[in-house]
Amino acid sequence: MGAGHTRFGALEDGPRALLRGAVDGAFASVDKGVERGALREAFLATLGFGGWQIGNSSAVLLEEAAGVGVPTTRVENACASGGYALRAGVRAVERGDAELVLVAGVEKMTDVTNARRRYWLGVSGDTEWERLAGLTFAGVYGLIASDYLHRHPRGADAMAEVASKNHENGTRNPNAHFQKRISREEVLRAPRVADPLGLYDCCPVSDGAAALLLVPADRARQYTDTPVYVDGLGAGSDRLAVQERPDLTTFEATRRAGAQAFHDAGVDRERIDFLEVHDCFTIAELLALEDLGFAEPGGAVDLTLSGATRASGRLPVNPDGGLKSKGHPIGASGVSQVYEVFLQLRGAAGARQVPAAEVALAHNVGGAGATAAVSIFSRG
Ligand code: COA
Repeated sequence: MGAGHTRFGALEDGPRALLRGAVDGAFASVDKGVERGALREAFLATLGFGGWQIGNSSAVLLEEAAGVGVPTTRVENACASGGYALRAGVRAVERGDAELVLVAGVEKMTDVTNARRRYWLGVSGDTEWERLAGLTFAGVYGLIASDYLHRHPRGADAMAEVASKNHENGTRNPNAHFQKRISREEVLRAPRVADPLGLYDCCPVSDGAAALLLVPADRARQYTDTPVYVDGLGAGSDRLAVQERPDLTTFEATRRAGAQAFHDAGVDRERIDFLEVHDCFTIAELLALEDLGFAEPGGAVDLTLSGATRASGRLPVNPDGGLKSKGHPIGASGVSQVYEVFLQLRGAAGARQVPAAEVALAHNVGGAGATAAVSIFSRG
């Protein structure tokens, strides 16, 4: 019934101020108002970057939300922390444990050195083989992209289209880290980060926070005339190290999470009006379209190059700019995707509104596919 979001980017604010901004926004968005004293449980998604509160950080959320006293839990599944925190929050509401639940995500990434940042990102992947071999996340996704392009050579153009499209979408999102258009040619010409991934194939390093307020479905209209319903939840996992997986070009965790979410929601793919998918690197958006069942293996290339996934296409993907352009403050990203769904399904997304959006899907991945969470929403 409520959602809040800070700007994403290289920001002056620390994690506490970011959390406060997102939570205040969520409470302010509740049309008919809600007392903070009604809060019964909270979940905080964060990797716990750099030097801020590494242990017990969920207690900080309650302080910034003026809700000290209620149970609070930190959820850490790397980049999928937000999707899993939503899942935990929804389950708490379903169990009847709590009438009003707060789910928030935060990350402060830009106040540490590059070496420290690489350490914090690196420990979310396999540390025994991948990290000791010098692989960064861009390196792992570079390997995945190499394999994909070997099988589907036109994938390079599709990856460039993903970057260009998501940067275009980001220009219509005032909270996005980047507000600049980038052509496909610029993407292909950009300096290499981890071949075949160039600068514009990568998400940036961002600060930011997002927050959601959940109530039981049958109580929602007490607080708002335009509730958004969580119809289906799915989650899955895979081996942490990509070397242990039989195929680099598919994320089994996404496949499992997606199948479960569609089953739970009782809808088929044709009903989905737009997608928020985890495009930490451009190749990841192509894999998501395939693993979620919107294209056959390799089929995301034609789907993307056809323009179908643009804001004006038949299946808009990442209308808020995605992780690529909006930014990727690790713990906040999965919550931010649901914020976008919340705006869109209420018809409140302004210049980037997807026309007649009624059903949407959010897809959040941890690391290079070790964990994934998928949720399906509809408007009331
Ligand atoms: N996309 C587009 N532009 C980017 C960018 C990105 N991802 N990252 C940086 N830029 C821009 C900056 O705005 C800056 O532009 P300017 O010169 O006009 O001001 C320029 O590129 C250089 O920025 P800088 O911060 O020096 O870049 P960098 O080389 O230190 O970092 C990456 C670039 C791609 C290495 C870094 O963004 C990165 O590590 N991204 C991946 C983060 C990650 O792994 N997250 C987890 C995913 S699972």
